[in-house]
Formats: sequence, structure tokens, C-alpha cells
Amino acid sequence: MVLDGDGLFELKVLAKTQLAKDVFRFDFASVDALPLPKFTAGAHVAVKTPSGMMRHYSLCSSPFEAHWSIAVKREGGGRGGSLSLVDGVSSGQILLVGPPANNFSIPESAPSVILIAGGIGVTPLMSMVHELLARLVSIAIKFVFLTRDAQSSPFSQTLRELLPGASFVLHHDYGKPDQQFDLWPLLEKVSRAHVFCCGPAPLMDSVRDMTGHWPSSQIHFESFGVNASIRSTDEAFTVTVNSTGAQYLVEPGETILSVLQNNGVKVASSCESGTCGTCKVSLIEGTADHRDMVLSNDEKANFLMICVSRAKSKTLTIEI
Ligand code: FES
Repeated sequence: MVLDGDGLFELKVLAKTQLAKDVFRFDFASVDALPLPKFTAGAHVAVKTPSGMMRHYSLCSSPFEAHWSIAVKREGGGRGGSLSLVDGVSSGQILLVGPPANNFSIPESAPSVILIAGGIGVTPLMSMVHELLARLVSIAIKFVFLTRDAQSSPFSQTLRELLPGASFVLHHDYGKPDQQFDLWPLLEKVSRAHVFCCGPAPLMDSVRDMTGHWPSSQIHFESFGVNASIRSTDEAFTVTVNSTGAQYLVEPGETILSVLQNNGVKVASSCESGTCGTCKVSLIEGTADHRDMVLSNDEKANFLMICVSRAKSKTLTIEI
């Protein structure tokens, strides 16, 4: 396996395949034909895009296959990572990819699972289905896949074949709020099932609300590829840079990082998903809404990861 100085693997894009509207699968193999490291279902990898940005994507291939696959939705209004991959990468190209990491794995003890995917959030749940179907002791799977329409439903045919009958439900809302799927009958009664949800912020917020009465250890969320930091309940706040006194308004849908960078303030960043630690700043005043996976509880009193975290108070003062 060829590694660069940052511990990233040099991987060859074996194939780039369009799966659905604006969704492309990239299959990777090592450049020297050596086997790739094993991963577990629900794992993700960091990918260095041609534009130089690091982005995290869930592995959607089977953990038992020789290659790794990710699926990427081309987000025109996003931060550029998906555009750079989809528009700038073709078969045969070499990309730098980090080793698999997993914050979204299925406990061996789970007696059954409820998998809820919205749109491109289907990707980590694909590797889970492959892993679950290969287990010696079979466990009950209920998979609900919520999409806008048939054209926006990657992997739906594969899922239909893997999960015949009522265990797989594909629902289209055609962008109409009154046609949204009602998850309450599925989540109302607490059971020993583990619930895994990946999808847009409003879907994850609503699953979070509907599972408030469940043991938190049974409820799992993943947001790689679907913008980890933005939630439908976000509100605007003002951030002040202590040393300059300059104030900036951070609207819902924006991050502190993007607002500072758009205003010419030099701040380092890499993953822009709260996982690498590059964008750490000092928190001087205000109540933070920490959304990263880097800071310890002790550090959260004095630091903030500005690529994902926001404010619970109306104002925050930071030092860069
Ligand atoms: S840029 Fe990686 S944690 Fe913020």
C-alpha cells in the first residue's frame, strides 16, 4: 500500500458510475494491487479532492469486497468538495484517501435494526445491509429509504433485491411536505432494536424528536456527505473576534468558518466536518453549541471548532 506523508493511501479510481440524478459512485483499489485494509459497516474515509479540500464519505461497498466504494452527490450549492470530486475525477485517476474510521457501527448484541435513510444518506446503511445479511445469526432489518422521487434514489434496486418484501420501504415525497413519510408508527413503541439514521438535517431532527423516549444508546446518527453542521433549527448569531473587535453575523446555513473566510479573515481548515482539529479557536465568551468530534468535555469550556459548531447564546467571542 502506498502512503503519502500524511498517512493517506494513494488509491486508483477503478470506476466512476452514475447511480442516480447527481449521484456518482467511485470504486477505489490500491495502486499496487495489494489488498485494502478491512473496514466495518458504517465506516467512513477522508478523501482529498482535486481542489485540495478533505471531505469525509461513508463507505457504501460491502465490507467483504476487495475494493472500497463511496457515493457522492454533486451539490451545486455546497462548499465545493462534491463538485470537485464529481466534476474533477474520472476513472484511472489517483486520489489520496484516509484509513477507514467508524463512529456508526452496529453492536454485535443488537437483536434487530431500524435503518432510516434520506437521499444520499443511504450510503453508510448500504454497507450495514451487506454486513447484516452475512451474519451467522440473522437479525431483523427494517429499512426505510426516503427520497424525493425515483430519479433521486441511488441503490434502490439493489436494496429491493437484498431486502425483499416488507423489510424495505422506499417512499418518495416529490418535495411536498404533506407527502412526507410518517415514521411515528415505527418509532412510537420502544423496543430493543437499534435505530440508525443518516440523511438531511430535518430528517435527523425529526428522528431525534421521535426517539427522545428511547435509550440513547440505541439511537445512532451519521451525517457525512449530508453536511454535518447544518440543522433546520439553527438560528443566526453574532461572532466577535476578540483581538480586532470585528463582528460578523452567522446566518442559519452558514458556518463561523465560512463567514470569517468570506470576510477575508485567515483561518486554517481541512476536513470542515468537525473531525480533524485544524480550525480550533479559543472561546472567550458566550455559550457554544459544540458539534465536533474532536474536543474533550474539558476542552469545550475554552475552545471551539468553527467549521461545525455554533452558538446557543446570541453572541460568541472567539480568539483566532
Ligand atoms: S476543519 Fe477539521 S475540525 Fe474544523
